[in-house]
Amino acid sequence: STRTPLMAGNWKMNLDWKQGLALVEELGDHLKTVNTDAVEVAVLPPFVDLRTVQVAVEAGKLPISYGAQDISAHESGAYTGEVSGPMLAALGATYATVGHSERRQLHGEDEQVTNAKVKAAFAAGLTPILCVGEPLEERQAGKHVEYTLAQLEGGIEGVSAEQAAKIVIAYEPVWAIGTGEVASADDAQEVCRAIREALRALHGDVVADAVRVLYGGSVKSSNVVELMGKEDVDGALVGGASLKAEEFAKIAGYQG
Ligand code: G3H
Repeated sequence: STRTPLMAGNWKMNLDWKQGLALVEELGDHLKTVNTDAVEVAVLPPFVDLRTVQVAVEAGKLPISYGAQDISAHESGAYTGEVSGPMLAALGATYATVGHSERRQLHGEDEQVTNAKVKAAFAAGLTPILCVGEPLEERQAGKHVEYTLAQLEGGIEGVSAEQAAKIVIAYEPVWAIGTGEVASADDAQEVCRAIREALRALHGDVVADAVRVLYGGSVKSSNVVELMGKEDVDGALVGGASLKAEEFAKIAGYQG
C-alpha cells in the first residue's frame, strides 16, 4: 500500500522526565540503523515528558514524531488537571491518543467523551489516534467486529471526510493488552480490514485507503513481522516494548 507504516510507543504512566530523556537519547542511537523514511516512529510519553521529547527532536537527536496519551475535550478554562489540544500543538505534538481502553475502563470515558476528544484533537490541528477493541467476553461471543466497529463509528461521529482521512485507528483487543497474549496476525487482519471497510462505507475509497490502522496488544520484535505482513495492518501501538530503546527500534526496523 502507499500508507507509511506508523510505529507508536505508548509509554503509559512510566518514566519520569530524566528517565524519559535517557530513553529518547538511547532511542536516537538505535534508530540510526532504521530507515525512518520508510516507517514513521512516534512516542506517546506522559504529559510531563513531552517538552523533553520536543527539545530532543528539535535538536535533531532523533527523527520521530510524538504526541500525548490523552487530550482534554475542552479548549481551555476551569478543567483542573486536564491538558488541552492547543497546549499539545504548541509543544509540536502531532498526535493525541483518544479512547485508549485504559481510559475507557479505568476513567469511565464513554463514546460521547471519546468523540468530543477526537473533535478537540482535530480542532487543535492534531491527529487523533483513536483506540478501539473488544474485551474478552465479546471476542468469546464472536461479537468482536461488531463491538469494535460500534466504538469506531461512535468515535468518529460528525467528523468530516477530510478529517477522517488523517485519523489513525488503533485496534487493540483488550485481552491482548499487557498480557503477553498477542492476537494472531489473522485476527488482527480481520478486524483491521473491517475497520477500513467501515471507513469506506462512511467516507469512500480515498479515506479508507489513506487511513492507517494499527494493531496494539503485546507487540514485540518477535511478532511484529508477521503482523505487518497483513494487508490492512499499517503499524503498531506498542506499550511495554516501547520502554526499551533497543527493542522498540527493532520493532520500528522490522523491515530489516
Ligand atoms: O497502547 C498500547 C497498548 O495498550 C498495548 O500495550 O504492548 O503493553 O500490550 P502492550
